[in-house]
Amino acid sequence: MTTHDPLASHVFYRKLTRHYPRIVRGEGCWLYGDDGRAYLDGSGGAFVVNVGHGVREIAAAIGRQAERLAYVSGAAFTSDPVEEFAAEIARRSAGDLELVYPLSSGSEAIEAALKLARQYWVEAGQPARRKILALSPSYHGNTLLALSASAREHYKTYFQDWLVEFVRVPASYAYRCACRGVPPLCPSCSGEAVEAALLREGPDTVAAVLAEPVGGSSTGASVPAPEYWRRVRAACDRHGVLLVADEVLTGAGRTGTWSALEPYGVVPDIMTLGKGIAGGYVPLSAVVAPRRLADVLARGSGALLHAQTFSHHATLCAAGVATLRYLREHALIERCAAVAPAFHARLAALRELPGVGDVRGRGLLAGIEFVADAATRAPFPRAAHFAETFTAAALEAGLVVWPNVGQADGVNGDLAMLAPPFIVTEDEIDLIVQRFGVALRATVERIGAVA
Ligand SMILES: Cc1ncc(COP(=O)(O)O)c(C=O)c1O
Repeated sequence: MTTHDPLASHVFYRKLTRHYPRIVRGEGCWLYGDDGRAYLDGSGGAFVVNVGHGVREIAAAIGRQAERLAYVSGAAFTSDPVEEFAAEIARRSAGDLELVYPLSSGSEAIEAALKLARQYWVEAGQPARRKILALSPSYHGNTLLALSASAREHYKTYFQDWLVEFVRVPASYAYRCACRGVPPLCPSCSGEAVEAALLREGPDTVAAVLAEPVGGSSTGASVPAPEYWRRVRAACDRHGVLLVADEVLTGAGRTGTWSALEPYGVVPDIMTLGKGIAGGYVPLSAVVAPRRLADVLARGSGALLHAQTFSHHATLCAAGVATLRYLREHALIERCAAVAPAFHARLAALRELPGVGDVRGRGLLAGIEFVADAATRAPFPRAAHFAETFTAAALEAGLVVWPNVGQADGVNGDLAMLAPPFIVTEDEIDLIVQRFGVALRATVERIGAVA
């Protein structure tokens, strides 16, 4: 396998000190290196590859659109794929979520969604509503407003001076909470903490509550209690605050339903999508909003003050249309829901392994949290680099996972996420569990210090 040496390449790599294996092909749940070595893509990259690698129909749709009309500026024109993509997202989304603003990354969608919330209130005659409540831990992206919204302190290290303040509310993170997610729930786990924060801040000064409906990597797929979102929705309604659901990671079927909020019967005022909506074939994201918000802008300034060269992109939207069609024609969201019980039942076996504190999640999204002491839930010290060592060991074992760190107290804490493509077979799930175990034993051996 060629590994790319940061000193011998012109690529400005994500990590400047490690070597990167070169992947030349993907098929289904598998990635192949330039020496033919196969890796099971247990995390779909960064929770992106929902339909699997190497889907020819999607590649062909992208090629056809690029040939016919690759791009026109969204400032001047619309196009068939943009119209079709928006109509399909609107058809699938709950309630009055019917207007779709296509962008490329999740961070861009968060920026645009928050600008929409703020601009809406100014144009609706309530300019005092400028605060945004966001959860901690949480992750919403890496551009400066999205990073400000994220409670991931180590990403902010060099940029604090450029960031704006968000009002923080503790996330529902049962494994790390004093109530352990067992009734009677504490205010953070019941959702009451959100209304308490609204009241404390003065609801008339709050524009929106922003949250991931099911935790992404910052809480390792923590799933809130069933009443959590109904309670938050009711609090937002009582105080006239917009609810912005960040479904960049959880949307497009990842948790077994189109959106993660759907099972709670809760409709947000604004939803962001990204990652899986084009399955990794192109970078595509979207802000989804009701007409009642856009109408206020239409009657006022006439436009959302957000403009990007590559918004409303014909070829990217054609990839989105083809991915959504593939999901529908192969009933892949239904398949995600159907295979999820077997996925979680087999992952439960990991609880018995040394270093595992918790296994949780929903649909084909799982977080496995590592601890030095399962009884006290004490994390490994950050200096041990448990998650990084585990991820490297998993790769050696032929398994791709998504690591995350710092969730225990902002610095310490290690977990690995799994999010395989929706086409994953039960045999492949067994292989994920087996390789996970091999990597974990190797990591514990290397690091030691498990109580
Ligand atoms: C919940 C959530 N929101 C937003 C983002 C940002 O998306 P992107 O990395 O595409 O900018 C992410 C990325 O991981 C995410 O998980």
